[in-house]
Amino acid sequence: MAIRKVARLGHPVLRKKGRDLSAEELQSPEIQRLIGDMVETMHEYGGIGLAAPQVHESLQLAVIELESLLVVVNPRITVLDATEQSFWEGCLSIPEIRGLVPRPRKIRVDYLDQTGNPQSIEPEGFLATVFQHELDHLQGVLFLDRVKDTTQLAFTEEYQRYWVRPGTDQTAPEESPRE
Ligand code: NI
Repeated sequence: MAIRKVARLGHPVLRKKGRDLSAEELQSPEIQRLIGDMVETMHEYGGIGLAAPQVHESLQLAVIELESLLVVVNPRITVLDATEQSFWEGCLSIPEIRGLVPRPRKIRVDYLDQTGNPQSIEPEGFLATVFQHELDHLQGVLFLDRVKDTTQLAFTEEYQRYWVRPGTDQTAPEESPRE
């Protein structure tokens, strides 16, 4: 496995919609290696999610690791509860920036796992935000596009200094609190 270079804001690959993977492709050594590399890259940079376009592969593929490691292929999202909740988000492709992003609080995601088996998950709360952040990447959408109030954007240092309430352990997608 290898650590892959992460595309940063401005790279056109981040704005392209990824294409679906066929069952045959998913089983191929190339894609299985890509999945391994994405997990390793996510770990290297202390992320909790990484989407294939972030490593220059325009595919419907993401990895998410919060409670457990999930490999998400060809996902389809259904909103189950459109009530908005806001979390501070960060992104490995937009280093050093945090923004408060409102999103639906509960969704269902139908997808294929690493072996091609159909799966369904109904994340809510912070995990729902993490899913929506990663799956947005597969559509060429970045969290900055979802920020509604640009006064709630901050560099990481200022975020830590002015926005994190003492005693809380806030995390943001793709960036660990230890950063
Ligand atoms: Ni991101």
